[in-house]
Amino acid sequence: MSDTAKLQIGDKSYEFPLVRGTENEVAINIKTLRTVTNGVITIDPGFKNTGSCESAVTFLDGEKGVLRYRGYSIEELAEKADFLEVAYALIFGDLPTKEQLDKFHTDIKSKSVVDDDIKKIVDAFPKTAHPMGVLSSLTSALTAFNPTSVNVESTEDMYNSVVKIMGKFPVLVAWTMRKKQGLPLNYGSKSLGYVENVLKMMFEQPNEDYVVNPIIKNALDKLLILHGDHEQNCSTSTVRIVGSSHAGLFASLSAGISALWGPLHGGANQAVLEMLEAIKADGGDTKKYMAKAKDKNDPFRLMGFGHRVYKNFDPRAKIIKAAADDVLNDLGVNDPILDIARGLEQEALNDPYFVERKLYPNVDFYSGIIYRAMGIPVEMFTVMFALGRLPGWIAQWKEMRLGKEPIGRPRQIYIGENERPFVEIENR
Ligand code: CMC
Repeated sequence: MSDTAKLQIGDKSYEFPLVRGTENEVAINIKTLRTVTNGVITIDPGFKNTGSCESAVTFLDGEKGVLRYRGYSIEELAEKADFLEVAYALIFGDLPTKEQLDKFHTDIKSKSVVDDDIKKIVDAFPKTAHPMGVLSSLTSALTAFNPTSVNVESTEDMYNSVVKIMGKFPVLVAWTMRKKQGLPLNYGSKSLGYVENVLKMMFEQPNEDYVVNPIIKNALDKLLILHGDHEQNCSTSTVRIVGSSHAGLFASLSAGISALWGPLHGGANQAVLEMLEAIKADGGDTKKYMAKAKDKNDPFRLMGFGHRVYKNFDPRAKIIKAAADDVLNDLGVNDPILDIARGLEQEALNDPYFVERKLYPNVDFYSGIIYRAMGIPVEMFTVMFALGRLPGWIAQWKEMRLGKEPIGRPRQIYIGENERPFVEIENR
């Protein structure tokens, strides 16, 4: 293949270099397009064909259903690693040695206390507030309590800000839930692991010692790993673009949380469970909902199905589906919505509408069923996604800042009114 692409506009021809990734992905580098063509730009709604950066964090092949963090396959990571190891690999590039992991964990624990005044902010939210809104606000509020911006030139400064947010974020996650449930705001324990502490902080009751259930701990580890990163998705692109203005890490993360909240992105895990519940309450007629999903006059979509980049099975969904069976069995939970989910999946996989459009179950289709079996309230599902995605966001923010990427500032094609005279208010 040639290493340039040719573009013909009218009678003029232009040449642009091709960029090739380590997995042979190819892009046309149009950096000079506007200059050499005297003002022509590209337009690509939803950035379906646009690469925003070069990245060494995550590789995914949507056609083949492949997902790797830093070169390690998601299947192996989910089976063999724990969340903190994966977080380290995402953020620093390689799986940690035992010493590196221990140090990372110790440093995170030493930074896991949040300023007590944050409790006043938590208190000011009504109990009805959605936890994602609260989490985004609290993450942004951290900026006020940690006002010195990170010196990205300093490895030490960068490391400190990473362990700070890795330590404080699970506390905020737990507090968003405890506030809703009227429980006192608590902390983890120095003797517990990262994921164990998440569970302790979320579920500990004031009048009893919390004992970690290993089945729940392993399931959460796996879910967090599977959500760890997913290259340039909506929330990650948000984190990178906010960070590209040199806004701080916490402010960039807060924006990412808001982006994740939407039902077409991370909010789908809550939407899936609500959909499955609605189907159950409506008599379990999956065919009726399949018909609604296919009806172009009906806004209903089969939540947890389809993906911008996977045109094959989402590899994360395969792992989660198997885990859902195991976790429910191990916990002795018999959840009828698992049967509804399986039924919908079977119908969709055999339905020409879904087959032609290559719509397969995505990561969110089965995750809510596991979260529910673990005792996590539905409104917290997307918060759990955020907790898993945190290392990915950090890794991508760090890569963007260290790569000295320019500020993200797309262009547009203006389609509004041409210049017109101002009309005085009494004459309009
Ligand atoms: N149910 C019914 N039809 C669908 C669905 C669905 N879930 N998803 C896509 N389609 C149809 C869509 O109507 C369109 O049909 P047509 O070509 O006839 O107009 C075609 O499939 C292509 O869809 P699209 O909306 O152009 O695809 P997209 O890449 O812009 O959107 C998506 C991807 C994930 C937003 C979409 O599939 C969707 O809304 N899915 C449901 C929400 C969901 O589960 N989101 C979680 C994604 S995974 C977690 C994460 O990483 O965010």
